[in-house]
Amino acid sequence: MDEFGHLSQELQGLEAQQMYRKCVCIESAQGPTVQIDGRRVVLFCSNNYLNLAGHPKIRQAAIEAIEKFGWGSASARLMSGTMTPHVEAERAWAKFFGKPAALFFGSGWSANQSVLTALPQKGDLVLLDRMDHASIIDAVRTSEAQFHTYRRDNLGRVEKYLADPQYRCKYIVTESVFSMDGDTADLKALAELKNKYNAVLIVDEAHAVGCMGSRGTGFAEEAGVLEEVDIVVAPLGKGPACGGAIVAADKVVIEYLINKARPFIFTTAPAPALAAASLAALEIIQNDPLRRSRLKQNADFLRQQFSQLGLNICSSNTHILPVIVGSAEKTVTIARNLLADGFFCTAIRPPTVPAGTERLRISIQCEHMREHLTGLCEALRRHFLHNI
Ligand SMILES: Cc1ncc(COP(=O)(O)O)c(C=O)c1O
Repeated sequence: MDEFGHLSQELQGLEAQQMYRKCVCIESAQGPTVQIDGRRVVLFCSNNYLNLAGHPKIRQAAIEAIEKFGWGSASARLMSGTMTPHVEAERAWAKFFGKPAALFFGSGWSANQSVLTALPQKGDLVLLDRMDHASIIDAVRTSEAQFHTYRRDNLGRVEKYLADPQYRCKYIVTESVFSMDGDTADLKALAELKNKYNAVLIVDEAHAVGCMGSRGTGFAEEAGVLEEVDIVVAPLGKGPACGGAIVAADKVVIEYLINKARPFIFTTAPAPALAAASLAALEIIQNDPLRRSRLKQNADFLRQQFSQLGLNICSSNTHILPVIVGSAEKTVTIARNLLADGFFCTAIRPPTVPAGTERLRISIQCEHMREHLTGLCEALRRHFLHNI
C-alpha cells in the first residue's frame, strides 16, 4: 500500500499547474552574483539588499563569538540558553530603535508568532493589512482575538473597526515595506488612527531595517513616526543579512513576551554567534550609510528603466520591484529563460501572491553594478516582452 499516494497525486497536480516548487542550490557566498550549476549568474531574488551576507566584519564577529562561546546555546532562553551576546544584542538594538527594551529571536517567523499569539487575547481586536506576511496572518489566525483584514487603500475600514467600543485592546499590524509589492504602508495615517482610538501599532520592518531612514532603522523613521510605533518587529535576515529577529518595545511588553510567548519559551535559544553577528551588522548599518544611498540609486535607476520598457511594477517605491506577468506558466517560462541568460529571479506564484498577479520579484542590492541592471533590462526585453 502506498501511504503517501495522495501526496504524490497532489504534487503532480501542482506540477501540471506550474505551481510546483523546488529549491535552487547556491554554490557560493551570496553577493550581486552567485554560482549555480557551476556558472556565475546575477542574483536578483535575494534580500541581501545591503550586501552584508558575506561581509568580512560579520564573518569575523561570528568566528570570534564561536571561539569564545562555542556554537550551540543548548537550552531555552529561560533555562541556561541566555548568553552574553543575546543580552548585548538586545541592549544595542533597543537603543537603536529608541525603545526601552528588546528581545532577540531565532527568526522573524518566531518573533511574529510570539508577539501576535501572546499579546492579542479574547476580547481584543487585530487589524491586518490583507497583504501582510504569512508569519503575521498565521499567528493572528491562531490567537483568540477577533481579526479583520483591510486594504491599504481603504483605511476607512480600519477607522470603522477602531471606532467600535466593544474591544478591550485594539492592534493594527502592518509590514512597513510590503515584501511582494515593494510599496509602503501609510504609517503616518495609521499612527494618527492609533492615537485617535488609543490602539497599539505593530510594524514589521523586515524589508526596511538597515535599508531605509537616515539612521537605517527602517521605514517608520523615514515616515517620521518611529516614536508612534509601539512594537517594532525587525527580522534581521534581509538587509542585516545575519538572521534572527528583534522585537523592540516598552519593558512591560518584553517582560510579558518572556513570560508568556510560547514560541520564545519552548525553543532552544538562537546560537550566541547569531546574536554577535547581528551586533556587527548593526555597527555597519550605523556607520556605512552609503550602502543605503547606493541601494536607493540602483532601485531608482531600475524603476526608471522598467517604466521605459512599459513593465507593470505596481506602486513599488522601494528596492523591491515586482514585474507583474499574470500567469504562472508565463512567469515560470520567463524565469527559466532569464536564468539561462545569467539572471536569477524566481517566479512568484500563489499562494505567495493572489492568482492573476503572478510575477517576477526583482530585489536590488547596493553592490549591483550598472551593467547588471542594464543586462537584466535587455534580458527582460528579450524574454518578457516577447512572451506577453
Ligand atoms: C515581512 C516579513 N516578516 C517576517 C518574515 C519572516 O522572517 P524570517 O525569515 O526571519 O523568519 C519575512 C520573511 O521571511 C517577511 O517578509
